[in-house]
Amino acid sequence: MKSLLKSAAVLAIAVSVSGVALASEWEGGDATKGAKVFKKCQACHTVEEGGPDRVGPNLHNIMDRGIAKKEGYNYSAAMKKKGETGAKWDEDTLFQYLEKPQAFVPGTNMSFPGLKKEEDRKDLLAYMETATGHKK
Ligand code: HEC
Repeated sequence: MKSLLKSAAVLAIAVSVSGVALASEWEGGDATKGAKVFKKCQACHTVEEGGPDRVGPNLHNIMDRGIAKKEGYNYSAAMKKKGETGAKWDEDTLFQYLEKPQAFVPGTNMSFPGLKKEEDRKDLLAYMETATGHKK
């Protein structure tokens, strides 16, 4: 019994190690934890399809969409300017933006200090992948 438990533990470690090996920097987040992190965003953002804009724009389909491209939302001049560079939101740009919004888009209206912990951003992105309809 003891050795069975031991081999199960070894297997679990092997699985998680190979998971890490395959994953990119931001991957391997925990979507369940990410849903909790998203509570910090909920005062200002909805994620569901057709959800209302609040202080910030609805984030449905945000991934792979150009920056400042949600129709009908009045972005700051700073965010529009960033969008004019042709930059889009993906795991990379969101990972940077969410660490420190004011650094990635100087002058943005999004008054949120950022998520300093890399782990929180990974978890959040794992959640957003599905919640925003990017990964079904
Ligand atoms: C206090 C309100 C507030 C909070 C909290 C907040 N945001 Fe925002 N967010 C905004 C506003 C306002 C904008 C538009 C910024 C601009 O136009 O400069 C925005 C813009 C964005 C954008 C760019 C949208 C686009 O269409 O280009 C993303 C992505 C985003 N927020 C994600 C998040 C996430 C994820 C969180 C939580 C970690 C969060 N925000 C927390 C208010 C907020």
